[in-house]
Amino acid sequence: MELVPMKEILDRANEEGYAVGGFNINNMEFLQAIVEASQEYNSPLILQTSEGAIKYIGIDYVIGMVQAAVKNIDIPVALHLDHGGSFEKVMECIRKGYSSVMIDGSKYPFEENVKLTSKVVEAAHSVGVTVEAELGKLGGNEDDVSVDEREAKFTNPEEAEEFVERTGVDALAVAIGTAHGVYKGDPELDFKRLKLINDRVDIPLVLHGASGVPEKDVKHAVSLGINKVNVNTDFQQAFTSKIRELFKKDSELYDPRKYCGPGRDAIREAVKGKIEFLGSKGKG
Ligand code: 13P
Repeated sequence: MELVPMKEILDRANEEGYAVGGFNINNMEFLQAIVEASQEYNSPLILQTSEGAIKYIGIDYVIGMVQAAVKNIDIPVALHLDHGGSFEKVMECIRKGYSSVMIDGSKYPFEENVKLTSKVVEAAHSVGVTVEAELGKLGGNEDDVSVDEREAKFTNPEEAEEFVERTGVDALAVAIGTAHGVYKGDPELDFKRLKLINDRVDIPLVLHGASGVPEKDVKHAVSLGINKVNVNTDFQQAFTSKIRELFKKDSELYDPRKYCGPGRDAIREAVKGKIEFLGSKGKG
């Protein structure tokens, strides 16, 4: 199956009130596990790579592996750039075959974020590619980017309405209390704010930093307009914990297939769990 624009996947989720995972890939095992679980559960899928993952894997390998992975499956799959930092990076991914991009202008003042996002929307839409943007700023660590909790800034609902109107963006990442990476304490989500944003904005909303957030909180967020839920750290932990366990049992282990294989199985089970509670099972 060909890659589809993320908009196709998210607009249906928005109409029917469920969420689809924006699942990050770090290597081939992540890709295989995520695609297999999604196919088995007949769930639409958003595969995403951060700029750091692209740097690690190589963009041509990403495209080649994803094309091989989706060749013989029949669920809709989008390939999405997560947290694109510049117009140039976004354009490179579009040229290489990504069907969706995120332009993250959240580090800029509002007007600059509007300007950069609008420029990306104009270019991406002209070739049928979906655009996600971010307003407000998430805390935590993702790849080389670290945002101190004091710098994190929640999304303002009025600004969100103006931002969506002026940019024409397809999906909006909101900052409502989640953070990238491992939580130090318990995450506290601002559901009131999410409802206010959803009352003013019609497009699908995106929850970043969903690893470590209790299932009931993610479900509540989905009931209040979240249609894309980003997960990376939970799968990294599933993979690495399994490998750690195997090395503990047998420190002589040296064949990567003997530990990466079980690591891949662990990711597959973790992905299935997410698909179940996001509500996208059977929606492929
Ligand atoms: P986590 O690594 O906290 O799951 O966040 C993933 C994410 O939001 C990617 O953009």
